[in-house]
Amino acid sequence: MPFVPESVSPLDQAGLDRLADQARDAAARAANLEDLGRLRRQWTGDSSALAAANRAIKELPGPDRAQAGKNMGAVKQAVFAAFDHRRQVLEETAAEAQLSRETVDVTEPTERLAPGARHPLELTQERIADVFTAMGWTIAEGPELEAEWFNFDALNFGPDHPARQMQDTFFVDPPGSGLVMRTHTSPVQARVLLSQGVPCYVAVPGKVFRTDELDATHTPVFHQVEGLAVDRGLTMGDLRGTLDRFADAMFGQGVRTRLRPSFFPFTEPSAEMDLLCFACRGVDPACRTCGGSGWIEWGGCGMVDPNVLVACGVDPTEYQGFAFGMGIERTLMFRNGVKDMHDMVEGDIRFSLRHGVEI
Ligand code: PHE
Repeated sequence: MPFVPESVSPLDQAGLDRLADQARDAAARAANLEDLGRLRRQWTGDSSALAAANRAIKELPGPDRAQAGKNMGAVKQAVFAAFDHRRQVLEETAAEAQLSRETVDVTEPTERLAPGARHPLELTQERIADVFTAMGWTIAEGPELEAEWFNFDALNFGPDHPARQMQDTFFVDPPGSGLVMRTHTSPVQARVLLSQGVPCYVAVPGKVFRTDELDATHTPVFHQVEGLAVDRGLTMGDLRGTLDRFADAMFGQGVRTRLRPSFFPFTEPSAEMDLLCFACRGVDPACRTCGGSGWIEWGGCGMVDPNVLVACGVDPTEYQGFAFGMGIERTLMFRNGVKDMHDMVEGDIRFSLRHGVEI
């Protein structure tokens, strides 16, 4: 409804009082500062009844003017005071509302992100890489999807070697593709020899794949670190010394190791390196960790078979080499007393926090 100002004579005290009451009512009802501003213009602005009455004073005959001026002054003062008072109230309310909107409850529980941790296997691989870098070796990598030729043929596996059979190897479709998921890191031996030549000292940490079921001691995807040294005059003593220093660096000085004769097509002679059982220290015939043997297998090793050197273009009458492939899961198990392989593959943060944080 448009606002029609009532016109009042400046001499009509009752009319002026009514006007003042209405204006005070309007001011008191203003819901917010914007509303109040609009109402203030309506009730006191140029087109308001109050302003009209004020203007009418000068039209009055002389003697009435003073009385009219007094009346108007009192009414105007009352109306402006009402608007000023309302403005103060509304400003305070607005400030309080803003404060309460911006209140921070410092006692409220937060959603702070829990600290993370490296995966312990990653960390172990880095530690191993550090050990070999410190010995002056270089670190290499190779593909996880590997040519059968590198995984087997270059490494002197005969065409009928049992490791090629389906129970060990993930063959990659289509049949006859010549591709496998590498079953060990040893194919990188051939890759490094072919690309870098001799002499060479390289360590190769990485993932390997075998068709094993996941249980406490097996997983179909695990990690190895391959080592390959080819130079003039290397012997089994260099192999033993290198692995013992590696063991010292990972498990502490003087950890007991042993070499046990074994067979690999790509090394001759070949051996397994065992570590004295970390659970029973070799004294409990009923130990579940080592099966009572007192030793835990760490990995395979040996002197590089001359056939491998020849396949990679290295003259075996001039150069000799040693190689090893140690299990990284086993290294972590031994180093940190982890007894179940499941913990390493499940990705539980509690496991990572316990074993994957550098201190
Ligand atoms: N590649 C072998 C394995 O996976 C380990 C090995 C590496 C043995 C190098 C000898 C030399 O079991």
